[in-house]
Amino acid sequence: MAVRVPGDATSEPLTASGLQSLEITDFRNIENARLGFSPGLNLITGANAAGKTSLLEAIFCLGRVHSFRSSDADCLIRDNQPAWRLVGCIGLAEGRGIPVGIERYPGRYRIHLEGRPVSRLSDLAGRLPVHIMSGDTANILDGGPRYRRQTLDWALFHVEHGYREAWQRYVRALRQRNAALRAQAPVKQISAWDAELIDAAGILDRLRRGYLDELAPHLHAEFGVLLPGIQIALRYRSGWAQDMTLATALDNSLDRDRAQGYTHAGPHRGDFSLRVEEKPIMTCFSRGQQKATVLAFLLAQQKLQHARAAPQGAFLLDDLASEMDADHQTRVIAALAELQAQVFVTAIDPQALACDHWPVNKRFHVEHGAIHEVV
Ligand SMILES: Nc1ncnc2c1ncn2[C@@H]1O[C@H](COP(=O)(O)OP(=O)(O)O)[C@@H](O)[C@H]1O
Ligand SMILES: [Mg+2]
Repeated sequence: MAVRVPGDATSEPLTASGLQSLEITDFRNIENARLGFSPGLNLITGANAAGKTSLLEAIFCLGRVHSFRSSDADCLIRDNQPAWRLVGCIGLAEGRGIPVGIERYPGRYRIHLEGRPVSRLSDLAGRLPVHIMSGDTANILDGGPRYRRQTLDWALFHVEHGYREAWQRYVRALRQRNAALRAQAPVKQISAWDAELIDAAGILDRLRRGYLDELAPHLHAEFGVLLPGIQIALRYRSGWAQDMTLATALDNSLDRDRAQGYTHAGPHRGDFSLRVEEKPIMTCFSRGQQKATVLAFLLAQQKLQHARAAPQGAFLLDDLASEMDADHQTRVIAALAELQAQVFVTAIDPQALACDHWPVNKRFHVEHGAIHEVV
């Protein structure tokens, strides 16, 4: 059972505008669904355990080739079935759609892009940028530095030419340096990687700072809407002491690097934080306020993508209403409606979602894994 997707095999740069359609087979509790989506707002309703999050997970998988709920792609295969399959059509800015297919058999993927088999997962990842906010996944507040770095890197892959190449160079040099450290190689062999590491790190650091500087006004604007009256500060840490160059930091930590077998300084240790009156948000915000903060950040990112004419992709919000009062929901929904991006929102009870003035373009109802468009 190969994924067959028709279409020509050109490979021009893509500017995805969203997911036009998706056929799902044997993914979680969804046996089969053929869905056509709105480029605007899609509302997904259904009782507990109906399969709402599973639908978002399928969309997310098409964008990133992994789930946000599990690192094991095999557990997504519907019970007692041989494989799951997703065939989607990603809309391009100019109106055309490109077909994409992913199949997962235990332990292996089969991927097709525009009718051609693709051997590397990374060739597909990123064709459809997807952002998720779900109780099942980490976020920029509680996800730790690694999660925040990934968030930053992921965004930069889409908005900055040159970031991906610098990132690949950096990771390669870092791996080699760490291998030399672990092998207890002579200092010369370790520091042989420093020039490449420092050069690529300089590009990553500059582009990350530039991105966050550009994001800050969007963040303040979104914050002003979702959490008015609270002044937020965005702080970036490059991954080494700010009062010295990376070259000096590498020299200073060489003994420790050799003792512990890895490189301590560099953009792979970078991080950013959101603070209110010098305090980390996790310590002073309620769960609802934290959720609004994460949303403000995602919305700001989306606005920046839009301002840069970068691929917009799809915005996935799982169970938006939980832990959020009606006032905050109204603000979020107004912000989402204004956002010129494709949005998928799930809700157990659509009545509980304060969406009176929300121009929902399409509604879907999920029941025991069966998904129907509500017309
Ligand atoms: N591999 C699988 N095969 C069949 N059912 C599954 C699989 N993985 C999860 N499920 C079931 O799918 C159902 C839907 O879950 P979920 O999408 O989280 O529902 P919702 O978000 O609507 O509450 C759950 O009952 C879950 O147990
Ligand atoms: Mg759910």
